[in-house]
Amino acid sequence: MKETGQYIQPAGGRLGVLIPGLGAVATTFIAGVEAVRKGLAQPVGSLTQMGNIRLGKRTENRNPKIRDFVPLAGLEDLVFGGWDVYEDNVYQAARKARVLEPALLEAVRPELEAIRPMPAAFDRRFVKNLDGTHVKSYITKEDLVAQLRDDIRTFKAQHGCDRLVMVWCGSTEIYHQAGEVHNSLYAFEAGLRDNHPDISPSMLYAYAALREGVPFANGAPNLTVDTPALLELAQETGTPVAGKDFKTGQTLMKTILAPGLQARALGVKGWFSSNILGNRDGLVLDDPDNFRTKEVSKLGVLEDIFRPEDNPELYGDIYHKVRINYYPPAGDNKESWDNIDIFGWLGYPMQIKIDFLCRDSILAAPIVLDLALFMDLAKRAGLSGIQEWLSFYLKSPQTAEGLRPEHDIFKQLIKLENTLRHLMGEELITHLGLDYYQEGVETLS
Ligand SMILES: NC(=O)c1ccc[n+]([C@@H]2O[C@H](COP(=O)([O-])OP(=O)(O)OC[C@H]3O[C@@H](n4cnc5c(N)ncnc54)[C@H](O)[C@@H]3O)[C@@H](O)[C@H]2O)c1
Repeated sequence: MKETGQYIQPAGGRLGVLIPGLGAVATTFIAGVEAVRKGLAQPVGSLTQMGNIRLGKRTENRNPKIRDFVPLAGLEDLVFGGWDVYEDNVYQAARKARVLEPALLEAVRPELEAIRPMPAAFDRRFVKNLDGTHVKSYITKEDLVAQLRDDIRTFKAQHGCDRLVMVWCGSTEIYHQAGEVHNSLYAFEAGLRDNHPDISPSMLYAYAALREGVPFANGAPNLTVDTPALLELAQETGTPVAGKDFKTGQTLMKTILAPGLQARALGVKGWFSSNILGNRDGLVLDDPDNFRTKEVSKLGVLEDIFRPEDNPELYGDIYHKVRINYYPPAGDNKESWDNIDIFGWLGYPMQIKIDFLCRDSILAAPIVLDLALFMDLAKRAGLSGIQEWLSFYLKSPQTAEGLRPEHDIFKQLIKLENTLRHLMGEELITHLGLDYYQEGVETLS
């Protein structure tokens, strides 16, 4: 039975996707969309393009493609732009990233060459291992924000965009916690004028986007919009935000496997995760302060899935360690090893070993696409502030103050699907299923 859904503005016209950081992930995403548009490849890994959603009772057999169910911008309507501290156009940057085959890049070369980065808002204190010079000059951080807002408006006008979204694909910034300057919008704006050292470049992009009413998603583990100041701005301007850190590779595996172990009440003693990667991201993460930001993002996952405080017999004593090692020969083809010490009936020990030969940017690119399309949908549906239903894509999901994040990928998927059903006025699915066996039970299952 269809209920009344939320009013959603139509997805007509062009959607501009603005990306701070045109590195491996961003160029793999853009080149991929161009290749799909030319019919050269399939958008594998993108739920918006290839996923289905069940509607109604199982007996109704309604299982449309998500993109046919919710009004999303079409791939043909996307326009790309961005900023980087290096001058390379997207074709050159993609060649250097060495994720996609040269032949594929040649097939979309003119489209990629046309996308040249705008000069970045950059501060080397936050990313020590980069030395790019394609950066904006400024006196105060307020000036920098004004330049970024100007970039956003100019891009929108020049490309005839009806709407914009911004997805941070820039490097991981050094670890820092929210301080006074992030506690209110008032303090933050004073900090922009005073060049407060704790306002990082990613926060400047986020602030500029939100001031322009542009939804902002954060693909790195940086603090960025995860502060009271920027959340206040998101509410004030009615703009959606989501973060943090694309869920790819090892953490994706963790949030698939850990819920299964926990579901069967199997104990876990230790989980050792090691990675080697050789791309620019790996170089940035080779600095301990930048690694710390990533480490915090990766460590939270198991704690939240296993909830050791509720089940100390099974999970009270987990030794969880995460290592990332920069190893240039690996390039973007990261290898991650997991050694998991589990125990079963009567405490008998067992081990699981995972060797994941993964391609990080191949896993991240469809996430950028889905986040861009869903954030645009959220804005058109009148949603603002944190979009927790997009946790599915994120390693360290942002939540309302005091709320524990949900890391279990299957619960995250149910949340995402139910949000789409809710927006479209379809009944939510509880998976109870008693109505197939007992008369008088009405729950949708
Ligand atoms: N690859 C993955 O699977 C994955 C997964 C989760 C998160 N991430 C995060 O996504 C981000 C991008 O990853 P990547 O592999 O593309 O890294 P990358 O190093 O190839 O690209 C990042 C780009 O950002 C640019 N940059 C840095 N600071 C900037 C600034 N202030 N303004 C504009 N540009 C700036 C760099 O010059 C670089 O070109 C990283 O933060 C990474 O940790 C990546």
